[in-house]
Amino acid sequence: MIRDDRVQYRDGGDDATEHVSGCESTGTEHDSLIWAGRSNPAEYAAHMTDPDEESTNEWDTESYDEGHSFVFEYGEGVVDLLEPERGERILDLGCGTGHLTARISDSGANTVGLDASKAMISNARDSYPECEFVREDARDFSFDEPFDAVFSNAVLHWIPDQDAVLESVADALGPGGRFVAELGGAGNVAAIVDAVRIEAAERGYGVEGPWYFPSVGDYASKLELHGLETRYATLFDRPTKLENGTDGLADWLEMFGDSLLSPIPADERQSVISGVEDRLREDYLEDGTWTADYRRLRVVAAT
Ligand code: BEZ
Repeated sequence: MIRDDRVQYRDGGDDATEHVSGCESTGTEHDSLIWAGRSNPAEYAAHMTDPDEESTNEWDTESYDEGHSFVFEYGEGVVDLLEPERGERILDLGCGTGHLTARISDSGANTVGLDASKAMISNARDSYPECEFVREDARDFSFDEPFDAVFSNAVLHWIPDQDAVLESVADALGPGGRFVAELGGAGNVAAIVDAVRIEAAERGYGVEGPWYFPSVGDYASKLELHGLETRYATLFDRPTKLENGTDGLADWLEMFGDSLLSPIPADERQSVISGVEDRLREDYLEDGTWTADYRRLRVVAAT
């Protein structure tokens, strides 16, 4: 069944703090965070897909965690949708710094975090030494023991070859297993991409969004192709306030827009970003805070 309603974000509350499976933070700098859901998504373009390739993006886990914490906070709503249970075996696909892996473990589930980035896996292991983390390619992974669920938050839109991902996901799930994921959906950050496209075109450059933002129909068909039945799917607007005041949009582009801006020579990027800000200011800057036009696709599918 496909529903198109709004998922309510629930407060995790204090009752979700039991660390049954031992993924307790060691008290690193990440303690100040709520739930860091992701590593540098820019890195996924190169690193979610080939652990042996060196990333073209410099990755600074601290600056990402500190400057883009909205990603962590929203990720908690996807964990709610997962409804992890004690004793379940759950894979966090694209676990980044491991905070959501640990959050899932709070339920008593046995989790494995998977990420292609060496830096992220190392960071996750430092923060949660009793959790299991593996460095693998999201398009080509396999495990001896099946999972009850595969979970993924804010990662899959970085991987154009979604068929390869879903093939691995389907293979990793046992009978009755579920796949619970959130990714950018159709129309995600369209205002930002359009503004970059126009500013780039005015200077003679063509830019293309590097991301995969499917509609409900597209994704449900893809899931079905890989033997996964869609039980729930929703596409919804989630306007997202960016951090760091009037620098928020420029920071966002710096953190996430590397591939988007890549056709533009380095010495012209600043003027493109200023032009983008001028185009979006009226509709997306209010009281000194930028809002990005995020749209999310959430799915629950079953084997
Ligand atoms: C997203 O989470 O939707 C997203 C983040 C960075 C770039 C593009 C999309």
